[in-house]
Amino acid sequence: MKISILGTGYVGAVTGACFAELGNDVVFVDIDPAKLDMIRTGRSPIFEPGLDELLAKNLHRISATTDTALAIRETEATFICVGTPSNPDGSIDLQYIAAASEAIGEVLREKESWHTVVMKSTVVSGTTTGIVRRRLEEASGKEAFRDFGLASNPEFLREGSALTDVFSPDRIVMGVEDPRSREVLETLYATFTCPKLVTAIPVAEMIKYVSNAFLATKISFANEIGNLCKTMGIDTAEVFAGVGLDARINPAFFRSGIGFGGSCFPKDVRALIAQAGAAGLPPKILQSVVAVNEEQPLRLVALLKKHLPDLKGKRIGVLGLAFKPDTDDIRESRAIPIIGELRKEGAGVIAYDPLAIAHFRSLFPEITYASSAAEVLECDAVLIITEWKEFEALDYTGKLVIDGRRVPKAAVGSIYEGVCW
Ligand code: UDX
Repeated sequence: MKISILGTGYVGAVTGACFAELGNDVVFVDIDPAKLDMIRTGRSPIFEPGLDELLAKNLHRISATTDTALAIRETEATFICVGTPSNPDGSIDLQYIAAASEAIGEVLREKESWHTVVMKSTVVSGTTTGIVRRRLEEASGKEAFRDFGLASNPEFLREGSALTDVFSPDRIVMGVEDPRSREVLETLYATFTCPKLVTAIPVAEMIKYVSNAFLATKISFANEIGNLCKTMGIDTAEVFAGVGLDARINPAFFRSGIGFGGSCFPKDVRALIAQAGAAGLPPKILQSVVAVNEEQPLRLVALLKKHLPDLKGKRIGVLGLAFKPDTDDIRESRAIPIIGELRKEGAGVIAYDPLAIAHFRSLFPEITYASSAAEVLECDAVLIITEWKEFEALDYTGKLVIDGRRVPKAAVGSIYEGVCW
């Protein structure tokens, strides 16, 4: 099939490359020519293990353009993969979604053959059949589900393992209202053997939000229980290993630590809170999930102060800046509030991350960035914020280590405290 991908950020780049690998012709569209140049030469515009190789391997099926009209005319389906940033009140900002819908609608006005528009970006339930449909219909003068197709097909990709998540998913969710759009999605995913759920469009959108909100809830729950276990001298990991063996519960996403970051969980939970609030149902559980997640990183600094009550003038080493290992992404990284707090306390910060320093420098230009993890170990104390594999290979003997992610090696021969253990 010939498909176009609108937006070559994280979701667009991964989705397009994977559809090309599945044998489809893929046209990437973006307003940023630099990203398109990278794609044309088989390089990913974002860091994701294996993505460069996948793009390079499928280059004969890939093209890239800034011309939305051309891309839509030449393809049968368009996946909207543009960003959905947050408004200051936590609700999602749909300006890019609205603009993309309008741009597609203008081309559909002239296009005679059937075209299906698929929402891949994470949008709150009601967006695709609401503002997206309206903008498409106004700009095209046509009617959705009759003159063109409209569908929702949320992604469940984790950064760092996105390709595995695409090719071996737990499920594929297809929100459809018209048979031709259903056929488009069923054809694209024909070779997948996982459960395929065909739902109404608002249901598909909601599945995505509720999945992320539930996983975030598991993490905050594990952190709240972890804080209690620590005070009782109980190993929280053992507790959750036991709890997770209950098939109704499942062991995943029970790792306690300094909380969740990234481009999805914090934003999606806040957006769901805003949507529920607007419906007159402010969600108590989700508000607590966010509250626990905001307090959790600061506990690391509180634990540090137990050992070094006055941080003024102290050199505090930070291992890890990315929101999790195997990514250069620092969005909502727990390193941000932790380093903010250390600075407030007057500490000097020496930070290291294998990939995320360049991004972090723009947020905190005033701190020192080390060129190796070993350099960070020279400080008065070390905080572990991201569990990069290479931190397992360091020698922590004699160091004061406050661990936010449970790196077992860091406890060997050191003065050691874990945030929940
Ligand atoms: C997440 C979802 O997993 C994915 O399905 C969705 O499409 C996008 O959001 P991602 O943000 O890439 O993916 O990372 P993920 O691996 O889920 O981790 C998110 C955050 O939670 C990280 O900061 C991680 O350190 C933290 N986390 C995860 C925990 O603190 N404990 C856990 O048990 C699991």
